[in-house]
This record gives sequence, structure tokens and C-alpha cells, in this order.
Amino acid sequence: MGKIQIVYWTQGGNTQIMAEAIANGIKAGGKDAELVFVSDASLEELKNADVFALGCPAMGDEVLEEAEMEPFVCDVESFCQGKTIALFGSYGWGDGQWMRDWVDRMNKAGAKVLNNEGLMAHETPDDAELAECVEVGKQLAAV
Ligand SMILES: Cc1cc2nc3c(=O)[nH]c(=O)nc-3n(C[C@H](O)[C@H](O)[C@H](O)COP(=O)(O)O)c2cc1C
Repeated sequence: MGKIQIVYWTQGGNTQIMAEAIANGIKAGGKDAELVFVSDASLEELKNADVFALGCPAMGDEVLEEAEMEPFVCDVESFCQGKTIALFGSYGWGDGQWMRDWVDRMNKAGAKVLNNEGLMAHETPDDAELAECVEVGKQLAAV
């Protein structure tokens, strides 16, 4: 059984805290998890995976981080048909538009977005948001 990859980008660490909690949920669900910063991620490994998670905070003006995450997600769109993908990230002053757009985009590319919604935390995740991350990890392990 391969590891479930959690590929993410973070600047301040909030999205990484979410990624770590999702990994804990995956492990609690009986599977292995691997945290990978997007610049170290392998598209080939994701192509061979049925299930994975992608994380990025709201950046720019309600968009993904543009230098690394955006081009990576563009590549993932080309092969994500039929795959189950959890989307997650932290945000600040917005209302989550970046995440709604990201969910729409992956759905249009043919992915099955887990729960059909992204998992968001406001700035540093609080206990309730961390519990949701763990829950999503368990759901990924159960796919
Ligand atoms: C350059 C920059 C752009 C941002 N743009 C947005 C935005 O459009 N909407 C929003 O809700 N938060 C925005 N934020 C706030 C971050 O999404 C928020 O601080 C988040 O917790 C950062 O996550 P990280 O710690 O994983 O990097 C922005 C922050 C920075 C530094």
C-alpha cells in the first residue's frame, strides 16, 4: 500500500499545520501519509495515485500561490480525472473565494473533490479546524 501524498505550499506555516493534522488522520485511518512541499513533489507519483491532498493558502487576490502551486495545479488538472482529491488551505481577510474557485476548477477537470468542498482554516487553525483536518485525513484513508 503506497503512502497518501499531501502536497502543499505555505509561507507562514498555517497550511502546513493543516497538512500535518490531515496526515495524522490518514495514519489514524490505517494508511501511511507523506507530506511533500510542492517544490519537491513528483507529478509522476500523483499520476499513479487514486487519492491525494493538495493544500495552499489564499494568496494574491483570492488565488493560489502563483510561482509554484499554480503551475503545479495546472499540471494536475491534466491527469486528475476520476481521482479523489482533498483540497485545503488557510486564509485571512477573504471569504474563501479562492477555495470555491479551486474546487470548481478541479471538479471541471474531472476530479472527485472530497466532500465536494475545500477544507479551510482561518489563519492559524484552531482546535475545531484541526479536528476537521484529522477527519478529512480519515476520510482519505477510507477511500
Ligand atoms: C501576499 C499575501 C496575499 C494574501 N491574499 C489573501 C487573499 O486573497 N485572501 C485571504 O483571505 N487571505 C489572503 N492572505 C492571507 C493568508 O491566506 C493567510 O495569512 C494564511 O493563513 C497564510 O497561510 P500560510 O501560513 O500557510 O502561508 C494573503 C497573505 C499574503 C501574505
